[in-house]
Amino acid sequence: MAIGEPVSLLDGLATTRAIRRFHPDPLPPDHLSTILFSATRAPTGSNRQNFRFMVLTDGPNARRAKSILGESFRSGWAKKVETDGYRSGSGEAPNSPKARMARTMQFFVDNFEATPAVVLACIKTRHDSLIDGASIYPACQNLLLAARALGYGGVLTGWHREVEAELRELLEIPSEYAIAATIPLGRPLGNHGPVRRRPAKELVFDDSWATPAPWLTEPSGTQHTAAGPSENG
Ligand SMILES: Cc1cc2nc3c(=O)[nH]c(=O)nc-3n(C[C@H](O)[C@H](O)[C@H](O)COP(=O)(O)O)c2cc1C
Repeated sequence: MAIGEPVSLLDGLATTRAIRRFHPDPLPPDHLSTILFSATRAPTGSNRQNFRFMVLTDGPNARRAKSILGESFRSGWAKKVETDGYRSGSGEAPNSPKARMARTMQFFVDNFEATPAVVLACIKTRHDSLIDGASIYPACQNLLLAARALGYGGVLTGWHREVEAELRELLEIPSEYAIAATIPLGRPLGNHGPVRRRPAKELVFDDSWATPAPWLTEPSGTQHTAAGPSENG
């Protein structure tokens, strides 16, 4: 989709997926503004608005933070290659989805420092992680949907965790705020396939657990996939 081409809200919801390969061009300030404005319109518990967004583009702190994050992403991916068996089974066939995913991930982490904008989504913690998360992840999805609407893409990630202390010190993030997600953003590079999920009927129940909802249909052309590694992993 060309930048700025309109996309309806429902189409945006059905087609927004993880984007990990970016053109290095910076996001124009008005686009960055719309994306971050949209994030800040998300709901929070009691409308506390206890989220903050640290945007890293090309300032001195941003360059240093991207390099710290780049190292952490490379080591995060290297561990996942082993734990999720990306080099074994179907991963050995160069054209399998697993091998294609592994190439995308490798490109992503190898080029992390060139990501045009990286957003650290922060939340002031009050409760347990589930409740705190409920006041920041809607904003993250707003951000990704706004990016999609403007022809950009991104992905919610957690590979900042190993370097969170270093980032806090560099960016002067107060101790009561947790970094809930790192979201790289940019104009997508190359082709991206459709969103594929399990059939909605397997995921939506009516009246009792595991009873498929009889009223549930999917738009024609919806594509499916099995779940990833494990719901518990
Ligand atoms: C809670 C959560 C954590 C995630 N952590 C990472 C991560 O650390 N690194 C990464 O590359 N992607 C991460 N993702 C992105 C998922 O892998 C991605 O959304 C999922 O595989 C679906 O991809 P698709 O939309 O392209 O089909 C995360 C997504 C969520 C919702």
